[in-house]
Amino acid sequence: MTHGIQPAPRHDFSMDLGDAELTARVAEGMGRVEDLLMGRLSVGEDFIVEKVTHLAKAGGKRFRPLVALLCSEFGPEPGSENTVKGAVIAEMVHLATLYHDDVMDEAEMRRGVDSANARWNNTVAILAGDILFAHASEMMSEINTETVKHFADAFGQLVTGQMRESVGARGEDPVDHYLKVIREKTAVLIASAAHLGSMHSGAEPEVVERCTVIGEAIGMIFQIVDDIIDIFSDSEQSGKTPGTDLREGVFTLPVLYALRDESPAGEQLRGMLTGPLERDEDVAYAIELIGQTKGREQALEVVRSYIAVVDEQLDQLPDSPANYALRHLSDHTVDRVG
Ligand code: IPE
Ligand code: IPE
Ligand code: MG
Ligand code: MG
Repeated sequence: MTHGIQPAPRHDFSMDLGDAELTARVAEGMGRVEDLLMGRLSVGEDFIVEKVTHLAKAGGKRFRPLVALLCSEFGPEPGSENTVKGAVIAEMVHLATLYHDDVMDEAEMRRGVDSANARWNNTVAILAGDILFAHASEMMSEINTETVKHFADAFGQLVTGQMRESVGARGEDPVDHYLKVIREKTAVLIASAAHLGSMHSGAEPEVVERCTVIGEAIGMIFQIVDDIIDIFSDSEQSGKTPGTDLREGVFTLPVLYALRDESPAGEQLRGMLTGPLERDEDVAYAIELIGQTKGREQALEVVRSYIAVVDEQLDQLPDSPANYALRHLSDHTVDRVG
């Protein structure tokens, strides 16, 4: 038996994409994404629905649906029903990974609210993530088997990335290891959103391929920036607890570069960062030291190299408002950290 719940607060799209018609079309598509997402997540036993809508209602940028809808602009049917479904699937899979990620990272805060593991417990958070995969799989099956196959592959890579992160570099160059991890755990899903959005609007295979490359590069930018934010932003800005990666002993790109820094701060960090940091004072001190190195600037240099990939691909696609918007989306992603 299924139960309805209170309608969720509307998550209105408010970004200016630089062109009035494009902004209106994408806003309309994002509204359909939101309705479909919340509609599907509101189906089921009420004790499930409460948990599974917890994070969807709390906020989130809906970045993957936005990428899907922008890429759908390169085909003849932007915003077609299947592009909206593709966008919802990407957000559902993303949400599922957030529930599971917060268990693995022992994170207490997500989207400005208690994480599901903190609010309830790990069991609830894991099961809520699993239900999201069930919803996502159902929606994939409504599109076609190609979409199911695409996500089977993407999901396999996502899990590989999370596992690769938890087993560590094991002798591999730590920066190469990090870049592999983030490609798999984050960029692949954003690439999927781009792929499904362009493909289901009927874009030519070559265009779909370019959109996929753009999505992957934006994904790399997105995660490196997120990792910079984890160190340098407060929870008011990020909706998450700063220093979570350091606490877990996960050393992200700015930290890896800080650890290579020749400065006294770099030297001190090498002595200090040998595993998870348990005490708040240690996390705060490590953050201060990282700030004294070139870690952040060097990580931003890598970000710039992926911005160049995005621009190079967009140069090969028709000049259009969506092209302009995607170019600015990658810049905007970096602006999150300044
Ligand atoms: C957080 O993703 C996890 C990462 C892959 C960095 P987002 O930054 O897109 O999270 P929400 O959806 O806005 O909460
Ligand atoms: C998130 O990685 C990647 C996912 C696939 C969820 P992180 O652990 O770095 O992301 P945040 O900072 O918790 O959002
Ligand atoms: Mg995390
Ligand atoms: Mg994590």
